[in-house]
Amino acid sequence: MGIEVRPLTPQIGAEVFGVDVAKPMGNADFDAVHRALLDHSIIVFREQKLDDAQLMALGRQFGPLIVHPFLHNDGPNPEVIHIKREPGDKAIVGQEWHSDTTCIDTPPLAGVLHCIETPKAGGDTLFASQYRAYETLSDGMKAMLEGMIAVHNDSRVAGPQSGVNGSRTNRVRDDAAWKPSSAEHPVVRTHPETGRKGLFVNISYTRHFKGMTEEESAPLLNFLYKHAVRPEFTCRVQWRPGSTVIWDNRCVKHLAINDCGPHRREMHRVQVAGDRPY
Ligand code: SIN
Repeated sequence: MGIEVRPLTPQIGAEVFGVDVAKPMGNADFDAVHRALLDHSIIVFREQKLDDAQLMALGRQFGPLIVHPFLHNDGPNPEVIHIKREPGDKAIVGQEWHSDTTCIDTPPLAGVLHCIETPKAGGDTLFASQYRAYETLSDGMKAMLEGMIAVHNDSRVAGPQSGVNGSRTNRVRDDAAWKPSSAEHPVVRTHPETGRKGLFVNISYTRHFKGMTEEESAPLLNFLYKHAVRPEFTCRVQWRPGSTVIWDNRCVKHLAINDCGPHRREMHRVQVAGDRPY
């Protein structure tokens, strides 16, 4: 049986059937899965059985893995984050629309997330195409954004001043030695494999435009944050234990919905190293 790709929406997202991602993929299967990722930006595999070693091996088929700069990791493998939402948690990892880890010079190419446990209802993740966000801007706005640079850092989501620890199970670095990680990226980036342009600013990490203050930058950034996640650019993944998702972090934002009520949710994640946005 060959690989079957079923789109979730016309713009973004597909379910991929006919491949066991717990095993190394042969060249033909990898090419089909890679093509599906480039075409649909996020892909979902159902009913997969992956331990952390297999999750790392899956990620490594797309490139080397990174160790997250500020999220504490409670397992034996530094590259794997166990994202846990315990009953009583007020906040969860990734509850704002964001691209992952854009506070570093080379943000991840992809995230790979494997579902261990999820409520019977709730705990879904939303994804938004930043290609469509860019492509639907007016010509005037596109011309204005061309060549603009944004300054990103992790001061909103890590460190003692962020106030993140205490409201959720996953802790971030808040020790005295913590220093913000900071990077500059183009506001519009070109995908190195598809050649398509996408918006590349997000509320978790983008602080301001280069050469402008936060106050001066805020009106335009707020417009872009709102525009970037219009419903018609999004798809929604309803998790089941064994669901495994790969998203292309170069052209997708995502958000974990904080609606688990009294239930647990546990996901295991690795991140594939990316290159410098241009
Ligand atoms: C993340 O932001 O990478 C976590 C997403 C999720 O748990 O659904």
